[in-house]
Amino acid sequence: MYKLKLLFFSLIVSSIPSLASQNAETGCLAAGCHESILSHEVIHEPSEDDCLTCHDTDSDEHPSPQGAEYVLNESVPTLCYDCHDEKNIMKNIHSPVEDGECLSCHNPHSSENESLLLAKDGNVCLDCHDLEVGAKMEHGPYSGKLCTSCHNPHQSENEYLLEKAIPQLCYNCHEEIEEMQDRKSVHPPFEEDCLDCHLPHTSPEEKLLISNIPNLCYECHDMVEVGLNKISEVHGPFQESSKCNLCHSPHATDFTPVLLQEEQSLCFKCHDKPIEIKRRVIKNIKKIVSNATTIHEPVDDGCTECHDPHTPDNNFLLTGHFPMGNYTQGKADNFSLCFDCHDSSLMEQKITTEATEFRNGSKNLHFLHVNREKARSCKTCHSVHGSTNSFLIAEKIKFGKWDMPIVFSATDNGGTCQSGCHEKKTYSR
Ligand code: HEC
Ligand code: HEC
Ligand code: HEC
Ligand code: HEC
Ligand code: HEC
Ligand code: HEC
Ligand code: HEC
Ligand code: HEC
Ligand code: HEC
Ligand code: HEC
Ligand code: HEC
Ligand code: HEC
Ligand code: HEC
Repeated sequence: MYKLKLLFFSLIVSSIPSLASQNAETGCLAAGCHESILSHEVIHEPSEDDCLTCHDTDSDEHPSPQGAEYVLNESVPTLCYDCHDEKNIMKNIHSPVEDGECLSCHNPHSSENESLLLAKDGNVCLDCHDLEVGAKMEHGPYSGKLCTSCHNPHQSENEYLLEKAIPQLCYNCHEEIEEMQDRKSVHPPFEEDCLDCHLPHTSPEEKLLISNIPNLCYECHDMVEVGLNKISEVHGPFQESSKCNLCHSPHATDFTPVLLQEEQSLCFKCHDKPIEIKRRVIKNIKKIVSNATTIHEPVDDGCTECHDPHTPDNNFLLTGHFPMGNYTQGKADNFSLCFDCHDSSLMEQKITTEATEFRNGSKNLHFLHVNREKARSCKTCHSVHGSTNSFLIAEKIKFGKWDMPIVFSATDNGGTCQSGCHEKKTYSR
């Protein structure tokens, strides 16, 4: 690393004998003139050894009133590079290093600070760079002025003189974040660039975010924003100030698509109680599903089989048509949600022995009920999520504000039903 300087030896020989070895005890310092030069705690090794390693006499009359009888053997930075590895060979070189201004940061003799710096830690940087202050959030190592924990002061193969490329730089200190990369569902930008979302120094937002949630998300997911503007029903979480992160992690989780929990339990986080809204009370779906003896099969796979949590076009945030109230026109299209999976002939064929089990002989009782201008909605008889009755038959239905009971029992070949709609009726296939 340290090249022995041939020039250096020749200079000593040609120097005045009394100055040939100017170490601390015998030479320049002994005279009491330059004591302060080595008075600091951190001492540059060659300065302790011999002043003439770097200085050379220009005149015999030292000390003279004019001064300047000594010159540097070589100019900086060549002088420094004689002993130190070159600091201007990588792809990105810090401007003062490129300009050879080693002395804008280092004292060549001694210093109070490590690495012979002119000021402590990042304070040396603040001579030329402004410290951003007054932001809502400051990154610990930045406000602590530990600039060199991320930047190399001289040169780097990485842009912005970073010690390591991102994200490795961040993993240096945030190990737990690195471990997240192994999760099952990883948000693509999280694999690539932390700075898509975070600022490294200070930020006007919490968690060093570039902008708040959801605006941050909308920078890349404008579809969601467009959708939000057009819907009439706004799902509860979107009425909160923080939105997306009530359900998604911005980084990674074990639940696709980067959900905070497995889908059903995520929805049950809030739908584990009745929710009162302006016109009605939303049912406690978790209770319905946990008490049920018959659960509608798609509910086992999650709620988004039928619901769109963000940008629904339909009632109840559904992915297909389904009437809001108890009655509607008896067209299959009004129930397109159900007929994505079921065959609409169950309500369309007046006479059948195949399209449905809900028939009296060949008389289709689905057709009978779900027919004409005032057709009954499926939910007047079925509890769509789950029920303690077979065939998802509801235990009660909302009739205005009245919870009207339904007493249903299945038989081998049909069933009986008694409700506020009619007296006990029996059907048999
Ligand atoms: C590693 C090289 C090196 C060594 C060794 C060294 N100096 Fe220097 N010295 C410098 C450089 C570089 C400058 C700055 C010159 C400039 O500012 O142009 C300097 C400047 C000086 C100056 C003028 C400015 C000041 O800081 O007061 C004096 C006096 C000085 N050195 C004395 C000494 C003495 C005495 C010793 C031995 C105890 C010594 N130097 C050892 C490199 C060295
Ligand atoms: C004659 C050889 C020599 C010259 C010339 C020289 N150095 Fe050094 N420098 C050393 C040695 C030896 C050390 C101590 C060993 C080490 O820390 O690597 C050192 C250490 C340093 C350190 C680290 C100090 C610490 O405490 O960590 C800095 C910074 C430094 N030199 C800067 C400079 C600068 C700037 C110049 C040019 C003005 C220069 N050196 C010129 C030999 C030299
Ligand atoms: C912008 C300020 C700055 C400039 C300019 C600068 N250095 Fe440094 N240097 C530092 C800092 C800060 C450290 C401490 C390293 C760390 O903490 O990572 C350092 C450390 C060093 C060290 C010891 C560690 C090492 O990297 O070997 C040497 C030697 C050194 N500098 C030499 C030089 C030389 C030679 C020049 C001029 C070509 C120079 N420096 C220019 C800030 C600077
Ligand atoms: C003597 C003045 C000076 C000092 C001291 C200084 N810098 Fe710089 N720095 C500059 C200049 C000049 C530039 C290039 C102009 C610009 O982009 O602002 C620069 C650019 C940078 C850049 C951007 C590099 C790039 O590739 O865009 C970083 C990062 C940086 N400095 C970090 C530091 C750190 C960290 C310190 C302290 C260890 C420091 N600077 C100390 C003058 C200085
Ligand atoms: C946690 C790591 C980290 C710390 C600590 C840090 N920086 Fe940076 N800095 C970065 C990153 C990353 C960038 C690149 C930003 C970008 O890509 O927009 C950067 C960019 C810069 C730039 C160039 C762009 C600009 O903002 O002008 C300068 C100059 C700079 N930093 C100086 C400093 C100074 C001075 C300190 C200490 C007070 C410091 N940095 C502390 C990570 C850090
Ligand atoms: C030198 C170590 C270090 C490096 C490198 C580093 N950080 Fe940090 N970071 C910290 C410390 C210390 C804190 C403050 C302690 C805390 O709140 O966890 C912090 C806090 C944060 C926070 C806020 C945490 C919270 O809960 O409020 C975010 C976000 C963050 N860092 C992101 C990054 C990113 C992105 C990078 C890479 C560009 C990075 N960090 C690089 C040390 C570091
Ligand atoms: C898509 C945007 C995005 C990307 C990319 C991203 N983050 Fe985050 N990060 C966030 C958001 C949003 C939060 C705040 C989470 C919250 O408050 O619920 C956060 C929080 C953090 C925190 C605070 C602790 C925590 O887990 O909440 C750290 C540390 C962090 N991020 C580091 C990183 C690192 C390192 C990377 C790169 C590997 C990265 N982030 C990439 C958006 C992002
Ligand atoms: C820098 C751009 C960017 C930002 C900012 C961003 N994302 Fe993404 N996100 C992507 C890309 C790219 C994909 C993968 C392609 C796609 O599905 O659009 C993705 C996919 C997703 C996915 C689906 C993941 C999967 O497994 O299918 C979710 C959920 C998501 N992002 C949520 C968010 C949330 C929440 C935020 C705000 C905290 C956010 N994104 C911010 C770029 C971004
Ligand atoms: C109530 C919980 C919830 C909230 C709040 C939420 N999401 Fe989602 N998000 C989901 C679920 C569940 C899926 C999976 C949907 C599916 O599989 O059909 C999803 C899927 C996604 C996808 C994947 C592509 C797609 O549209 O299916 C993206 C991107 C996305 N969400 C972004 C966001 C953004 C951005 C926000 C905030 C504006 C947000 N989400 C808020 C639950 C939520
Ligand atoms: C953070 C709490 C929260 C989470 C998580 C949540 N919801 Fe909701 N949900 C609400 C609130 C609050 C309402 C009532 C909003 C309103 O209409 O004012 C609501 C309403 C609904 C409605 C009725 C909408 C209407 O207008 O009829 C459906 C359907 C729904 N949520 C489905 C889901 C599904 C599916 C999930 C899981 C992907 C889910 N929710 C996750 C809070 C949540
Ligand atoms: C097979 C399709 C389907 C599945 C799967 C499904 N739902 Fe529904 N959901 C509906 C229909 C249809 C309605 C409207 C009729 C009603 O209120 O029962 C509805 C209504 C709702 C309502 C509003 C209830 C009210 O009183 O206004 C909430 C909340 C809800 N579902 C949550 C969920 C949750 C949570 C899951 C997952 C555990 C889920 N849904 C799974 C079809 C489904
Ligand atoms: C995502 C597909 C899907 C959607 C949408 C769907 N179902 Fe189902 N449904 C099924 C599956 C699968 C079964 C169980 C197998 C079968 O009986 O066909 C089932 C069974 C049923 C059963 C019989 C339960 C039993 O125990 O025999 C009824 C009643 C029912 N669904 C009503 C509805 C209603 C009403 C709708 C619309 C609100 C609807 N379904 C929407 C998939 C769906
Ligand atoms: C008047 C009450 C009533 C209405 C309204 C009703 N159902 Fe049914 N549904 C039943 C009964 C009772 C059964 C059980 C038949 C059996 O197996 O004995 C049933 C069975 C089913 C089945 C199981 C397969 C079959 O056809 O036997 C499906 C699927 C179904 N209904 C879907 C729907 C859909 C979709 C709607 C709305 C378009 C709807 N039901 C409306 C009472 C009703």
